[in-house]
Amino acid sequence: MSNSQYPLVSPVTSTTESTTVELLIVPVFGSEDRESEILVSLDSASGGVLARAWTSGEFSSKRHQVLQFELVGAGWGAKRAVIVGTEARDGTVPDRIRLASAVGARVAAKLKGKTIGVLCRGEAQNSELVKAAIEGVGYGGFNDSRYRRSQDVPEEMASCELVWPQACSEDVTESIRNGNAIARSVNAARELSNDPANVLTPTVFAERAVALCKESGLKTEILDQAAIRDLQMGLLLGVARGSEESPRLLVMNYEPAKSSGSMLGLVGKGVTFDSGGISIKPAGGMERMKSDMSGGAAVVGAMCAIAQIGAPNRVIGLVPMTENMPSGLATKPGDILKSADGTTVEVSNTDAEGRLILADALWYAQQLGATHLVDVATLTGSCVVALGKVASGIFGEPQDWVQSITRASERAGERVWQLPLYPEYRDQLESELADIKNIGGREGGASTAAAFLQAFSNGKPWAHLDIAGTAWTETASPDGAPGATGVMVRTMVELAVSD
Ligand code: BES
Ligand code: ZN
Ligand code: ZN
Repeated sequence: MSNSQYPLVSPVTSTTESTTVELLIVPVFGSEDRESEILVSLDSASGGVLARAWTSGEFSSKRHQVLQFELVGAGWGAKRAVIVGTEARDGTVPDRIRLASAVGARVAAKLKGKTIGVLCRGEAQNSELVKAAIEGVGYGGFNDSRYRRSQDVPEEMASCELVWPQACSEDVTESIRNGNAIARSVNAARELSNDPANVLTPTVFAERAVALCKESGLKTEILDQAAIRDLQMGLLLGVARGSEESPRLLVMNYEPAKSSGSMLGLVGKGVTFDSGGISIKPAGGMERMKSDMSGGAAVVGAMCAIAQIGAPNRVIGLVPMTENMPSGLATKPGDILKSADGTTVEVSNTDAEGRLILADALWYAQQLGATHLVDVATLTGSCVVALGKVASGIFGEPQDWVQSITRASERAGERVWQLPLYPEYRDQLESELADIKNIGGREGGASTAAAFLQAFSNGKPWAHLDIAGTAWTETASPDGAPGATGVMVRTMVELAVSD
């Protein structure tokens, strides 16, 4: 199957005069930008279209607002320009550039333009901003047409270049490389999550992930059912029992030439379809549960980008992969399973399967030497109720570790919001018979799920990211296609590379 199409930025940089792109994307920073030299020049090249739109109120640089026009005057080599508003909400400058570039790339895709450029102005001669522009173009230009007969995308992938008012004096090669690596990895994660469950079985998920990892030079290992059994991962096996598809545990290894003692362990939930099992889900919306492996896809994407960009310390990525299905063999409510670390777990609800497979994988990450842990999972409906689709939930301990990840998310332009992990949530998981049960009742469902995972972290720095609300979007937005979002790839990469 061919890949989705989206523009990667070429290492070519040009000037406003020398460029010949069909569409030039111009981020605009609010009304104070109106008098800037570059916009005044752009206005005269447009024959006054820009000034008129500004005076009439047609364009006021609101977030996501766009205005397109032809460039006819001197000094501008591009055929057309699209100016994109970037209102100063809570966004930083890189965040605003990232969004504006994404909006511009979506406009370009609709025009079926084959060559696009992003205008990097004054302050954009800075590696962070160049990287943000490149990422934005990659995200906005992503259009998953792999399953359509008539491909409504240009035959050739659009090419994108960076355009400066004057010749760029800085060496931006590395920023271009890193920006492309991140955009590629986010979009690879989006493709994996978009894939339907009849295509992306646990076996196929593991094979596809290994192929992506190979391209990035990562070492990988796929553990099959027998290997999982040898490790006595009773929780992963218990979830997989009801399915015809056998489970996998993917391990990805990143090792820098020199590193200190710490090792980051990234663990992603890889449920390729969550029917709920015997505690079956209602039919409405069940199709969305093909993307219950989005945490796993994010870990695969993050590992690939980390290998391409380079990180100071070792990183391992683990993805337990399975379906959660009902059948005559399936785990039943009330069954007691034993985890690889010896904890007995009463499965009171088979739909709370994510925490089960993550618990075994968290144990294995520590066996392999992880000193710091982050897990990412579409774990609870309760987190969606709390935060909507606006932010991912973060839980963890110690607080410094939660803060490191929160700061990484801010730099990456992704939102996380901390939810509590008070000891009372663990009390809700007391079982009459086993060491712990897998649900804690309706109240505080996102926190009781996190408390379950915490029981398998052995006091190591650990954080849990609940992306149930943020991994998928039903509606197209000016800056992104509907479907999987690839959320948390960027945060994990930022955390690993700037450690
Ligand atoms: N995969 C779901 C969580 C989910 C919900 C993801 C909505 C994406 C969107 C998870 O396995 C689940 O079913 N959780 C249950 C737990 C409950 C049984 C304690 C839930 O949140 O309802
Ligand atoms: Zn479930
Ligand atoms: Zn699930």
